[in-house]
Amino acid sequence: MPVTTAPTGYSRLQIALHWLVFALIAQQYIFKDAMSAAWDRITDGLEAGFDPLVLAHVAGGALVMIFALWRLTLRTRRGVPPAIDASKLQGILAKLTHVGLYALMILMPVSGSVAWFGGVEAAAQGHNVMKIVLLALIALHVVGALYHQFVLRDGTLARMRRAQG
Ligand code: HEM
Ligand code: HEM
Repeated sequence: MPVTTAPTGYSRLQIALHWLVFALIAQQYIFKDAMSAAWDRITDGLEAGFDPLVLAHVAGGALVMIFALWRLTLRTRRGVPPAIDASKLQGILAKLTHVGLYALMILMPVSGSVAWFGGVEAAAQGHNVMKIVLLALIALHVVGALYHQFVLRDGTLARMRRAQG
């Protein structure tokens, strides 16, 4: 059921999921070489073999998608605090970045799974293009957060640290 009054802040659960997903996505990039090497072996017609880092990539990516869908449900059911006061352009940019981040938190695991479980080369190529787009959006998102913190000093970062309402 959609909410009628917006809460004043993010809930503990929303904040926990935000930072958990951040950690999971970070490990997807930090330990990516194991997954790439396994994929190279498969495309060369060899056995992938067991590698815990490959398992972590598959399971970590799946969790990112589950948590993203959970967060979207929380957004409609519980709601999110009203957008921070900013210029119209900044507001649109923030909104587009958030939509893009959610889309990629779903499309990355989907394309990866189609490649890995379906053996579809084109899906792996899509996964490789999207990994750059995701990284660019994260960079933009972090620059935005730091700009709010150190230039505007409007407490935006605190909204993702302390639960409220
Ligand atoms: C948010 C989730 C995910 C992120 C951020 C992510 C990120 C990455 C990155 C950075 C690479 C390395 C590409 C390279 O530079 O060589 C990669 C490769 C790969 N990932 Fe993921 N991944 C995610 C989820 C998944 C899932 C769930 C699966 C499979 C079930 C998967 C399957 C693959 C495969 C097969 C490759 C090798 C592709 C290639 O090297 O051409 N990924 N991923
Ligand atoms: C993998 C990395 C990240 C992803 C995918 C991500 C994603 C998101 C998304 C989708 C939102 C929109 C609110 C929501 O629906 O939950 C958000 C909000 C936020 N994020 Fe991130 N985030 C990441 C990393 C970071 C980092 C490193 C920082 C801090 C430097 C940060 C600071 C914030 C803040 C302060 C908000 C609240 C914005 C507001 O209240 O309007 N995020 N994040």
